[in-house]
Amino acid sequence: MNYKQKIAKYLTKFELEENNVLMLIQDADLKNGDFALPVFKIAASLKQNPMQFAIDLANKINENKSNWLDKAMPAGGYVNFYFKRQVFIKDTFDYLCKKTKGDGEYKNLVPAAKKTIAIDYSSINIAKDFHIGHLLTTVIGGSLCEIFSYLGHKVVGINHLGDWGTQFGKLIYAVKTWGEDKPINSMEELTALYVKYHNEADKDKSLDDKAREWFKKIEDADKEALKLFNEFKRITLKEVNKIYDMLGIKFDSYDGESFFNDKMGIVIDTLKEKKLLVESDKAFVVEMGENEPPCMILKSDGATLYATRDLAAAIYRKKTYDFDENLYVVAYQQNLHFKQVFKVLELMGYDWADRCKHIAFGMVSLEGGEALSTRKGNVVLLKDVLKTSVDKTMQIIKDRGLEDKDRIAHEVGVGAVVFFALYNQRIKDMVFSFDKALNFDGETGPYLQYTHARCCSLVNKFDCNFDIEAKYLEDDFAYEVIRLLSRFDDIVLDAAYKYEPSIIARYLIDLCQCFNRFYFEKKILGQEEGVTKARMGIVKLVKNALKNGMKLIKMNAPNKM
Ligand code: ARG
Repeated sequence: MNYKQKIAKYLTKFELEENNVLMLIQDADLKNGDFALPVFKIAASLKQNPMQFAIDLANKINENKSNWLDKAMPAGGYVNFYFKRQVFIKDTFDYLCKKTKGDGEYKNLVPAAKKTIAIDYSSINIAKDFHIGHLLTTVIGGSLCEIFSYLGHKVVGINHLGDWGTQFGKLIYAVKTWGEDKPINSMEELTALYVKYHNEADKDKSLDDKAREWFKKIEDADKEALKLFNEFKRITLKEVNKIYDMLGIKFDSYDGESFFNDKMGIVIDTLKEKKLLVESDKAFVVEMGENEPPCMILKSDGATLYATRDLAAAIYRKKTYDFDENLYVVAYQQNLHFKQVFKVLELMGYDWADRCKHIAFGMVSLEGGEALSTRKGNVVLLKDVLKTSVDKTMQIIKDRGLEDKDRIAHEVGVGAVVFFALYNQRIKDMVFSFDKALNFDGETGPYLQYTHARCCSLVNKFDCNFDIEAKYLEDDFAYEVIRLLSRFDDIVLDAAYKYEPSIIARYLIDLCQCFNRFYFEKKILGQEEGVTKARMGIVKLVKNALKNGMKLIKMNAPNKM
């Protein structure tokens, strides 16, 4: 069904190289045909003038057309390809029909070598707030999991918990000193104790020694210390699991930093063996080359670091999952950290070091310029953002006479936040705005969902099969929608290749805008039977494409709203 491939194959007849064409060919604006081939490079390699080359090539093609090609037109240094619309329409319907199971769910028909892909994402810190800053890693990672699974790969979702460090000693001290009268059961209580500790420690420096003692006890697996430490974990996970449930996110592993506490031997031993460990101010580091800061492996007191644990984790993941790719969805602030970790793995001689990739993303702030700093205490909790969004959605839809208001408000409110987070290129910083995210007519989640619901309502009135007559869909409005529909798999492949869910989010917006133009321009119901049937065929295809596409970006698609 891939028409790019079709063109590339066909052009081998005229001595063009298939892969070369595949790389160059572009989608065209409808008025310029279906696809455009820029011939500048090809002409240059043959020492010919590109305009003349385009004219000659188009002539040759037109003398030797294949059954799906209407014509080729030279335009500057391009050759534009115009398809026979009916053939293309029929092909697209057949292809999408083959992809679609009875319930509308897509099967993947893209042949691909199956890979195992480990994705480290969300990776929250125990006993710390789950704030809006964690939104991006959670939804980008969640979406990448869906995308790779859709393409048939095996995905291992890993929540590399931040559950190691002296802060846990501080918390135990705080609990033992101020919190023993009643059992702690919520994040609020934990964070309050943490704040109290810091206030007191500012006045009395000896507290830090006591906290260190408690942390040492965790390291030494002291029963009481471990019990409290595990409580902190339980309380934090109980809280974040509520958010993961809202977002429809599940992990295969919660092995975090503490899990690697007794697995760092291999890192230290190998580094020593390879003579990579260098003493520097009593600490041990690996040199990264000139002008690059070294990667610290052991502190002067022998304690390990975040990087040491990540090295152990990468080695463990290779051994346990035998990944083909090992991804880390983490903010760009950690660029240096991952650069160092990957470099050390390479120096250690692991040939899979280049399969580790940092999938970086930008920062989130809230409209109005509020910073999201934990220390200042003005944190914006993700659960509050989601809840506010659901409440605001309820205000918008409450008078619409919907049966299942609560569920719909939930799906739309949460979907609006998720979509907003995924619509921008991941590397860009973003400013979250409820007004923008919840604008039902903008480039938003609710707009996608609304268009999907519009399709559902039409299908409810006139269900049809995909057995349509293509001649009724040759007009530009219908044809443009069909062209977009045909690109679904290409778009998913591109998003996977670039680790960029925004490519899917943008495609879905294009599809909705294009469909809505068709919807407003062309009457669908109540036409001559063949016309209504054919147009309803488009409606049904759009409905399925939207639902499947939204799933890939972690959104639900309610049937009504
Ligand atoms: N817990 C860390 C943080 O919040 C992110 C961990 C990312 N994953 C990793 N393997 N380092 O900054």
